[in-house]
Amino acid sequence: MKPKKRIILALDVNSKDEAVDLVKKLAGHVGVFKVGMQLYNLAGPDIVHCINDLGGQVFIDLKFHDIPNTVASAGKVMAGLNCFMFNVHAAGGRVMLKAAAQAVKEEALRLRRAPPKILAVTVLTSISQKELEDEMLIKGRAVEQVVSTWAEMAQQSGIDGVVCSPQEITAIRERCGPDFIIVTPGIRPQWAEEGDQKRITTPRQALDAGADYMVIGRPIIKAYDPVEAVKLIIDELEA
Ligand code: C5P
Repeated sequence: MKPKKRIILALDVNSKDEAVDLVKKLAGHVGVFKVGMQLYNLAGPDIVHCINDLGGQVFIDLKFHDIPNTVASAGKVMAGLNCFMFNVHAAGGRVMLKAAAQAVKEEALRLRRAPPKILAVTVLTSISQKELEDEMLIKGRAVEQVVSTWAEMAQQSGIDGVVCSPQEITAIRERCGPDFIIVTPGIRPQWAEEGDQKRITTPRQALDAGADYMVIGRPIIKAYDPVEAVKLIIDELEA
């Protein structure tokens, strides 16, 4: 895969106009645009068509977590929207994951188009070991162990990949093999500010650790010249 295809730009902005502006500037420079809860709830599903029309692929980051029938139905909507990727919570369980994978495959077949890739969110990177034990009552297991076990469950259920912290990549690769898609946020080139991200890696470190795609937001969208910022990141990935 070409380095630019690995970059998923997080469109964390407050208006459709701002998002469209960024897509126009960057469609030829990054692989995928991520539409999260902020932009999707603001602009509606039309933003996905808009990005597609401008030549961009879309990762819809809404993290579905509900009963199997509801998530399967939402998955069909995602297939109909023609997005490139969307995600669900692995914590919804094996039956929910299988229902989503099956429904998306059937809907894509009916529409005669490629199915979107489904990614599982395992343990959110904002959850600490203490919260896992005290609040989620998952005791006696390290976060990485829960993450890699749920990643394997997702893979066995027909899910295409995971979103995870760069620190979890090695454990997931060991259990799920080279073809399971790994997407990682928390990326900061050396020249960028950390902001609220804590356990960060550079784009190069994420690639070396085995990430397929990296989600990058503020280092690009807040840069004085977003195109120049992307070019610097691509140079780093190619070095
Ligand atoms: O601006 P920044 O590069 O920090 O943006 C990272 C993007 O990845 C944001 O959209 C954020 O919601 C998302 N994300 C994250 N950490 C996770 C999961 C998603 O930063 N564990």
